Amino acid sequence: MTLRTPSPSRRALLGGAGLLAASFMVSVRSAAAQDARVRHASRIDALIARMTIEEKAGQLSLFNDPFRFRPQEVNPVDKDGDPARVADMIRKGQVGSLFNGVGAAGARTIQDIALKESRLGIPLLFAADVIHGLYTVFPVPLAEAAAWDAGLAERTARAAARESAASGIHQTYAPMVDVARDQRWGRVVEGAGEDVFLGSVLAAARVRGFQGPDLTAKNALLATPKHFAAYGAAEAGLDYNTTDMSEQRLRGVYLPPFKAGFDAGALSTMSAFNEVNGVPATGNGWLLTDILRDEWGFEGYVVSDYTSEEELIAHGFAEDGRDAARIALLAGVDMSMVSGLYNAHIPDLVAKGDVPMSVVDRSVRRVLNVKAALGLFDDPYKGSDPDAERREVNAPEHHALSREAARKSVVMLKNDGGVLPLPRSGKRIAVIGPASDDDVFGPWTIWGDRTKAVSLEAGLRAALAPGAALTFVRGSDPEAPIEGGIDAAVAAARSADVVILAVGESTPMSAEAQSRAEIVVPAPQQALAEAVKTAGKPTVVLLRTGRALALEGAIRDADAILVTWFLGSQHGPALADLLFGDHSPSGRLPVSFPHVSGQQPFHYDHKPTGRPADPAPPREEYRTQFREAPHSAAFPFGHGLGYGPVTYGATEVEASTLSWDGRIEISVEVSNVGVRPVEETVQLYVRDRVARLTRPVRELKGFRKVRLEPGQTRRVAFTLDRKTLEYMGPENRWTVEPGRFDVWLAPDAQSGVAAGFALVR
Ligand code: NOJ
Repeated sequence: MTLRTPSPSRRALLGGAGLLAASFMVSVRSAAAQDARVRHASRIDALIARMTIEEKAGQLSLFNDPFRFRPQEVNPVDKDGDPARVADMIRKGQVGSLFNGVGAAGARTIQDIALKESRLGIPLLFAADVIHGLYTVFPVPLAEAAAWDAGLAERTARAAARESAASGIHQTYAPMVDVARDQRWGRVVEGAGEDVFLGSVLAAARVRGFQGPDLTAKNALLATPKHFAAYGAAEAGLDYNTTDMSEQRLRGVYLPPFKAGFDAGALSTMSAFNEVNGVPATGNGWLLTDILRDEWGFEGYVVSDYTSEEELIAHGFAEDGRDAARIALLAGVDMSMVSGLYNAHIPDLVAKGDVPMSVVDRSVRRVLNVKAALGLFDDPYKGSDPDAERREVNAPEHHALSREAARKSVVMLKNDGGVLPLPRSGKRIAVIGPASDDDVFGPWTIWGDRTKAVSLEAGLRAALAPGAALTFVRGSDPEAPIEGGIDAAVAAARSADVVILAVGESTPMSAEAQSRAEIVVPAPQQALAEAVKTAGKPTVVLLRTGRALALEGAIRDADAILVTWFLGSQHGPALADLLFGDHSPSGRLPVSFPHVSGQQPFHYDHKPTGRPADPAPPREEYRTQFREAPHSAAFPFGHGLGYGPVTYGATEVEASTLSWDGRIEISVEVSNVGVRPVEETVQLYVRDRVARLTRPVRELKGFRKVRLEPGQTRRVAFTLDRKTLEYMGPENRWTVEPGRFDVWLAPDAQSGVAAGFALVR
């Protein structure tokens, strides 16, 4: 798969015809949605003409759904969540959308209040945080990114959409497309990792999956690529923290996955909590209007993140709530999430001339247009249907897909001496550590159905012969020792033939607001691992985590390591599939695992600097390197092993030059020299040797997964053209100059021998 470098603004290309291009884009993605918008255009105009300013503010206001389950644990407590009060607001037209309420019957009842008891009968829009599944839980997005499989991401998003739409949800606040290059940030788990190319491919796939081919369809879910923008670049990986960066980096690294999501048809986005170069994203007209609307022609609506417009006050960017509402609205935030500031202040802001009515009308039109595109004016109940809900929720095919996705998400970092796969019988297995418990869903699984989740123990027992010797000892809690835990664990290890050491992070360690200063396995678990090591048994680590970790001691030195992330409903069976060799591990790291925490932020596509690191000891002085660690990853981006060594031939380039408008083929022979079938992910990396702005040491430009039978050799070829070599240049446009390029076809971002070609004009 290769993706063309995101194009410069459509306005730049089309000379101001951005909106035309965007309409065309939407009509290509979903003709029915476009048709619905056109059919309802005059109705929307008529509605806007009849709406009072209070009703307009209401259309632009979203609140927690107080009628159905209200999951306070994912957001700060909401003071306004009284059902009677919100029902009254709906009747008065003071609410246009509700979120995080789930259930078809309830959705119909609440919709009826809006349709039958409010003056204008405008349907409500129901949103929810469906991040990686609703009742059936799929692997966390970072895990699924490790599958490097856009088709898979599309299918899991589609399944999540089917369950959600049938349960009365119209919109998901996903995918999170923030590039995350600092593993201290707790929300790395929600995205696609550190790479802009992989992130863009998966952003588009997830949007396609949530929305499906027709946004008006009963099972379509409006996608919301978030958080616009640069939220993943928080300084020190500290959630909500400042971001400050060059325009080239913003446009070249942090914006492309959003663009890919919008080009795939997403009609909403969420403004981020953070500031960007001194201006909070939620009050940032340059981001929300100049780039998003005027350059990209985005036609959907922007919703603030939870109270982010109110937080303009704490940022020191707004005087008070009225000022915050004014700034956000003028910047381009169409809908306010939860703060109530739009309801409270829009009437007065317009009356006093601080916000023109035309700005309010424009936002109302955007929101109503999206409601029309979703088909809500034709069928306000849309997919909410208790029968469909019964059919879709926990459908067997969703659980089968969850198992497949979980299996494909696991990354085998090492397998010394071929300790894996394990035999199904004849070995006594001790499973030790807190990550063997049922905390396998990860964050944002508010409605995840724990009664349908299959544990590691159940998965292993089902795969083993009846009566197989399998013991489970917790040994430690994730962040605290258990009295006697280590002794029990060591005893179990001594009387076993093989140890499965299940350690790592818990869900509360890997989520929003969970930044970590040290990205290591917590000390009590490390102590457990060191003690278990004294038993001297072959040890397989199952590493549960929502970010890359710096592995140490007995964990790093174990015979085998499988990164299992948070795999979701079918965690146990998926791991059994891999541990006993029914399938070969095939995941590849979407984030670099560093040697030590202090390397953060570390990403494989860093710049070379004027004094590049000296990789081989004895290292030369005065280089870009730490005293204590190499300037490289312990397990690099793209790394992952299968049950069979795969060898790579030399990267072959079909010609020494690529002409300006031509194409060039790059290929490599890959061979499975093992005795089991494997799936190899061949990765295409490029380095632009000399440019007007310095370029990274390597950049991913394509990848392909190929199945290799034992003994099989295949040639894998990619085609590059000038567009695929472009970078965000000094004029803030995608550009490329003639010159030399290195190219690698390699199993990860740190290996392989470069070949090269020259781009000539
Ligand atoms: C805050 C989070 O940043 C965002 O991702 C989420 O969608 C909202 N809360 C709503 O729950």
